[in-house]
Amino acid sequence: MNYHSIAIDGPSGAGKSTLARMLAQELGYLYVDTGAIYRTVGLCAFRKGVEPTDARAVTALLDGMEIDLRYEQDGVQHMYLDGEDVTREIRRHEISRYASDVSAIPAVRAFLLERQRELARRGDVIMDGRDIGTVVLPGADVKLFLTASAQDRARRRFAELQQRGQETDYETVLRDIRKRDENDTRRAAAPLRQAEDALLVDTTGNTLEESFQVLLQTIKERL
Ligand code: C5P
Repeated sequence: MNYHSIAIDGPSGAGKSTLARMLAQELGYLYVDTGAIYRTVGLCAFRKGVEPTDARAVTALLDGMEIDLRYEQDGVQHMYLDGEDVTREIRRHEISRYASDVSAIPAVRAFLLERQRELARRGDVIMDGRDIGTVVLPGADVKLFLTASAQDRARRRFAELQQRGQETDYETVLRDIRKRDENDTRRAAAPLRQAEDALLVDTTGNTLEESFQVLLQTIKERL
């Protein structure tokens, strides 16, 4: 049986994961947050004291790395690293940079590619990330490229971190977002770019509900 797949790509903080989760619930699809998988690899490097830009050392880590993704009763995607639930820990601010750095290493991307594709073979999915429409699921039924101004994205990310009780300031978050944009778009391996057949949606200034309605409408028209 062929399942449906929806690819949502875009830069950090554009609202991809919140919107993808809402859409998945509305459509009865499985939501796959691929950033969480890269974050788990980043966390592994962080814990082992490995520089995330050191391709050789990170690649060596992959051999013994046990990463698991489970959907628990709450319907939330939980990430496990060597048997431990790290779902919360991977959201820490410093892990964002680790995730961004390790994700530029081709061996890391190759290690995760088949796992992501396998999830799309099991049922209808909405998958969000940076290279879903271009590399992971080039045959996706609907491809969306979600973006917003760097300031808007930094404001949202800052509010999110504050809500989680993490101490940081807006300027730092904005600087980190810009740095990650640069990392993600300039890397040689599967850089962040809009697939030719993806629809661009700019959420700058939108409320969450407005963006949700735009995306839902777009998906329904295309499925
Ligand atoms: O989406 P999120 O911000 O949680 O992703 C963390 C990092 O993982 C991103 O900055 C990006 O570098 C990387 N990533 C990626 N490809 C994906 C998903 C995330 O390179 N499909």
